[in-house]
Amino acid sequence: MNILTDIAALRETLRGEKNIAFVPTMGNLHEGHLALIEQANRLSGCVVVSIFVNRLQFLPHEDFERYPRTLEEDCRALSALNVKTVFAPNEKILFPTPQEFLLALPPVADILEGKFRPGFFRGVATIVLKLFNIIQPDLAVFGKKDYQQLHIVREMVRQLNLPVNIVAGETVRATDGLALSSRNQYLNGTQRAEACHLYQTLLRIKQKIISGCNDFQALQENASNNLAQRGWKVDYISIHRRSSLLPAQAPDQDLVVLGAAWLDKTRLIDNLEIEPP
Ligand code: PAJ
Repeated sequence: MNILTDIAALRETLRGEKNIAFVPTMGNLHEGHLALIEQANRLSGCVVVSIFVNRLQFLPHEDFERYPRTLEEDCRALSALNVKTVFAPNEKILFPTPQEFLLALPPVADILEGKFRPGFFRGVATIVLKLFNIIQPDLAVFGKKDYQQLHIVREMVRQLNLPVNIVAGETVRATDGLALSSRNQYLNGTQRAEACHLYQTLLRIKQKIISGCNDFQALQENASNNLAQRGWKVDYISIHRRSSLLPAQAPDQDLVVLGAAWLDKTRLIDNLEIEPP
């Protein structure tokens, strides 16, 4: 397996390759990431995985410094999946000078995650565009776990006419329903046991909508209150249209319910798509 840190060497390795599939990550790989890579493996004989903890998408008070960095284990896992090319640049390679060119994003980047993490999607979109330019993939796989990120990357590709096919991967969950995430390891035992209630809450909303309830406001408020009573600090529980990611209004169909909430100092996000009844 080639672990490349520099752009020229990466371009040289990929020269002449056709149908490049790309899976961008921040490392600390878990089964969720690995499922995306297996999906990429099924779609292409040339899979590139990037590992880069992108400073641009962290606010000053967020966990950039303590974000887990586990390159050696990550590479072992990637090698077991037969990945041939890993791009693991350091900050000097991607930001030799401060990144002053930043994308301006549409209003959908200011709701949900963007409301609570201002500038987050600008940082994500800018790094994803840079990585697309460096790797020039034919397709790229993104997880539905980060539903708004997937939506915004799709929109960026569409509005900027990028020649990349965006493929969505399903969310991989622990047996109790908790969506796998690198941040789950910040949870202590009690918090880990509680953590599945975010998913349970979204699941209850989904079931109520499927059984005919369309008072979205009440569903959102009840769910937030229930989580708050269990000790969570809720950023949002919110029902949106899948196509635009704008807030849903009855009788919209094709919905997704998204949630973000804190257990002490750990912020978890999750979402569930809701099929029309
Ligand atoms: P990261 O959080 O490492 O996630 C990398 C990819 O794995 C994303 O597409 C994410 O949606 C997906 N993923 C994470 N947990 C998952 C799960 N439980 N099931 C399925 N897929 C999952 O997302 C980022 O990194 C960054 O924002 C990045 C796109 C790399 C830009 O820096």
